[in-house]
Amino acid sequence: MPWLGRDLASRYWKYRATFPGDEWALPLVVRHEGRIVGIQGAEASRFPVLRTPDTFSWLTQSMQGRGLGTLMRQAICALFFDELDVHAMTSGAYADNPASAAVSRKVGFVPNGTRLELRDGDAAEHNKFILTRDRFIRPAVPVTIRGGAALRVFAGVARPGDG
Ligand SMILES: CC(C)(COP(=O)(O)OP(=O)(O)OC[C@H]1O[C@@H](n2cnc3c(N)ncnc32)[C@H](O)[C@@H]1OP(=O)(O)O)[C@@H](O)C(=O)NCCC(=O)NCCS
Repeated sequence: MPWLGRDLASRYWKYRATFPGDEWALPLVVRHEGRIVGIQGAEASRFPVLRTPDTFSWLTQSMQGRGLGTLMRQAICALFFDELDVHAMTSGAYADNPASAAVSRKVGFVPNGTRLELRDGDAAEHNKFILTRDRFIRPAVPVTIRGGAALRVFAGVARPGDG
């Protein structure tokens, strides 16, 4: 698929150019032993008011099934709960994606309804999940975050003293 790289690059540059507008996406890179192996992101609408980002993730096939998908979701939830003062995180998984739903459950998300969504031109069942701070299951290893204050200022959710 020669167009895949071009389309991905175009999408990610658009994300960079539109952060932090009314609707944004923040795709963060996942590295394992120095190699880029996936993306863990979140997208949001009217973030400073609603503060409920929705996560999305992708992990290269050879790295799936080793717990990394769970760790990267826990990492982004820690970033948003600890540094960006969100009310809740949401996520969604098509009914035929049990691994994604399993990650949601392992991180503490609970079911939040089902919707039909367009997938490749057909209706597909999309299960929704929501995570509140009190249910968040953190990883066994601590999550270290640098640059939280600058990100809060940039995202429009500065705390007093952030500058
Ligand atoms: C979804 C995804 C991020 C999960 O990452 P991962 O590293 O494979 O997930 P983990 O290894 O952390 O955990 C997966 C859990 O799902 C479970 N699981 C995997 N396949 C499963 C299946 N077919 N049925 C039920 N559970 C399943 C695993 O058993 C594991 O739970 P456990 O640790 O309790 O055994 C990854 O598979 C991926 O990138 N898939 C392709 C893209 C995608 O679907 N993204 C999500 C939509 S936004």
